[in-house]
Amino acid sequence: MSFNPEFCRNESEVESKLIVQYLLPQLGYTPDTWYQEVAIGSIRLDFLAFAVQAIPFVLDANLPLSVVMEGKHPKQNLNNHVPRLRHYLTSLNVEYGLITNGKEIRIYQKFPDDIQMRFQCSGKEVDTKINKIKDLIGRERLKERQTKNKPVPQIPGYIKRENLMKTIAIYHNKGGVGKTTVAVNLAAALSKKGKRILLIDIDSQSNTTFATGLIKFQFEEEDDLREQNVYHLLESGDFNFIPDIVRQSQYFNNPEIDVIPSHITLIEEQDKLNKILASRNRLIAKLKRVEKDYDLVIIDTPPSRDLYAEVALIAADYLIIPSDLKPFANQGLPTVKNFVKQINESREVVGKPPINIIGVLASKISTNPKFLQYTFPQQRSVISKRYDLPLMEAVIYDRTVLSECMNQTITVGDLEYPDPKSVIKYAEEVKTDAQKSATEFDVLANEVLRKMGVN
Ligand SMILES: Nc1ncnc2c1ncn2[C@@H]1O[C@H](COP(=O)(O)OP(=O)(O)OP(=O)(O)O)[C@@H](O)[C@H]1O
Ligand SMILES: [Mg+2]
Repeated sequence: MSFNPEFCRNESEVESKLIVQYLLPQLGYTPDTWYQEVAIGSIRLDFLAFAVQAIPFVLDANLPLSVVMEGKHPKQNLNNHVPRLRHYLTSLNVEYGLITNGKEIRIYQKFPDDIQMRFQCSGKEVDTKINKIKDLIGRERLKERQTKNKPVPQIPGYIKRENLMKTIAIYHNKGGVGKTTVAVNLAAALSKKGKRILLIDIDSQSNTTFATGLIKFQFEEEDDLREQNVYHLLESGDFNFIPDIVRQSQYFNNPEIDVIPSHITLIEEQDKLNKILASRNRLIAKLKRVEKDYDLVIIDTPPSRDLYAEVALIAADYLIIPSDLKPFANQGLPTVKNFVKQINESREVVGKPPINIIGVLASKISTNPKFLQYTFPQQRSVISKRYDLPLMEAVIYDRTVLSECMNQTITVGDLEYPDPKSVIKYAEEVKTDAQKSATEFDVLANEVLRKMGVN
C-alpha cells in the first residue's frame, strides 16, 4: 500500500484516498458496482457498493447485497456517527456498513433488531487486515451470499448529491426573543433526524457556545476559545478554515453537533474587521469549502445591525425571525426588513440571490388557554397584514424547561461546572414539559426542511 490512511487530512481525503482509491478496488468493487453521493429520500449516503452490478436499483426487500461506506473527518469520533449508520442500514435494508475517519475503520452488520460491530481496526492496520475485511464485505463474498433466484431490481433510485448544504440565519434585532434557544434546539432536532449540522455562533454574548457545552471552564486561564473562534474565520481568507476552528458540542445532544464558537472579544475585534471589506464575504467562501460535509448550517446572530449580523445574513440562504409577537418585537420588524433590503444589495454584488425569508417564528408564546384563544390569533394575523412578512406554522411555547436544560450543572470535586443540554436530549432523560418542547422543535424542524425543499 502506498499511503497511510491516518494521513488523510479531511473528509474528502478519507473518501478519495482511503475509500475510492484503496478500499473499493481492494474489495473487488469495479466502478460499475459502486455509487458515490447517493440520495434516497431524505437519506444521503457517501458510497453504496453492490455485490452485483445494479443500476438502476430499487432499495427494497429484494435488494442485492450491498454495503454503505461513510467517510468522516479525521477529527470526528465514530461513536457519534453510529446512530446515523444504524438509521441508514435499517431504513434502507442494507446489510453492511463501513464507517471510517481514516484513523479508525469499523464495519457494522444489520440484524433484525439492531446493528452490531463486526470488525474494527486502526487506519494504520488496514493493509494487514484487508483479508478480514474482504471476508466480511468483499464483493465475491457478498455475491456468494446473494441468493441465486433473487430478482435484480429495476427502477432508478440514485441522484447525484449536489450543493445541498443550506444555511439558515436566525435573526431579529430585538434581544431576548429566543434566537439562541431556537438556534441550538433546532440544530439538535435536525441532528437527531440524521442531518449533518454546523452551528455557528456569531454573537459576542456567546450564548450558543455556552449552550452547546463549550464553556465548561471556570477560570480565564482555562479559556481555550479566545484564540480559536468565529472571529478567526473572518480575520483571514487564506487560513483558519472551518475544520480548523470547529468544535464538537459536549454532552449537549445525541448525536452531538459541530459548532463554531464565539467569544466576548468579538466586540473589540469588530473595528479591525470593519476596515477590511473582504471580511464580510469570507464566511461565504469558507462555507463553500465544507459544502459536502454538512446538510445544514445554522447561524445564531447578535440582536443588532452590526458587522456580525451582516456577515451572517450575507452568508445565509434562508432567514428565520423568532419573535414573541409583542409590541416591541413587532416594532423591530420594519428594521429587520430594511436591514434585509440592504443585505440583499450586498448579496447582489457578490452574485447571491436575495435571502429567502422562511418567516417570523412565534417563540416564547404563553400556554395560557385564554391567551391562546383570543390574543394569539390576533397577534399572528398582524404579522402578515401589517408587516407583510410570512409567518411560520410552528410555534415555540414559553416553557421554563428551555432555560432549565440550558442551565444544568455538574459537580466535580468542589467545583460546579455548566452542563447544558438540548431540550431534545433533556426530554430523553426527564419526563416533564421537556417532551412537549422537544416535540415542538421537531415540528419546527419538519417545517424548516419542507420549506427549504429538503426531505
Ligand atoms: N420558548 C421559551 N420558553 C421559555 N424561556 C425561553 C424561551 N425562549 C427563550 N427563553 C429564555 O429567554 C431568555 C432569552 O432567550 P434567548 O437567549 O434564546 O434569546 P435571544 O434572542 O437569543 O437573546 P439575545 O438577543 O440576547 O441573543 C433566556 O433566558 C432563555 O432561556
Ligand atoms: Mg442570543
